[in-house]
Amino acid sequence: MTESAAHTPLVILGSARSDGNTQQCLTKVLAEIPHTVVDLRDYSVATYDYLHEYPAEDQFLHLTDLMLSHPVIVFATPVYWYSMSGRMKNFFDRLTDLVEEPHKKLGRRMAGKHVFMLATGYDEEWAEGFEVPFRRTAEYFDMHYEGSFYHSSEQPFPTEAARQFAQRINQYCQSPQ
Ligand SMILES: Cc1cc2nc3c(=O)[nH]c(=O)nc-3n(C[C@H](O)[C@H](O)[C@H](O)COP(=O)(O)O)c2cc1C
Repeated sequence: MTESAAHTPLVILGSARSDGNTQQCLTKVLAEIPHTVVDLRDYSVATYDYLHEYPAEDQFLHLTDLMLSHPVIVFATPVYWYSMSGRMKNFFDRLTDLVEEPHKKLGRRMAGKHVFMLATGYDEEWAEGFEVPFRRTAEYFDMHYEGSFYHSSEQPFPTEAARQFAQRINQYCQSPQ
């Protein structure tokens, strides 16, 4: 999918490998839904800096533009040490730039978007609190946190849960409000 496919979900993939379990799970879940994947491995996103001094090659604002052009955002991450991946957490830290000047206006434009989360792990369930940063961050930006999907590599693929999750994502792409 190209980056310009608006009115499709934007998936932000935070795995340490581009063709790993999370990507494969994502492909299964969204098989019937046109979508755009941003693989964070392909982008330069510096760690958060209080002074907002970032290297010229930093692409966080480009990724912000992409988020702003899609009604639905799906954060896809493996569980690494009971939490989101470090790459995804780095991206979340950078969201701080959108609540500070000079980019506060961009942050306000995140309001109303629909946010989903997909995770893969080894354990049967994710650890307590795993979902909290996704839900609370969405709420902080006045986005709507719409739910999550988890697949353990040790369990059969939950086909029905995947179908329902995809259907819910699709619903917000058809009628974003
Ligand atoms: C650094 C690292 C830490 C992990 N920590 C956990 C964990 O805390 N809980 C869990 O269920 N699985 C854990 N796993 C297993 C991965 O979550 C699981 O294999 C996942 O599907 C990998 O997705 P990926 O191929 O996209 O990286 C860990 C794997 C790695 C590489």
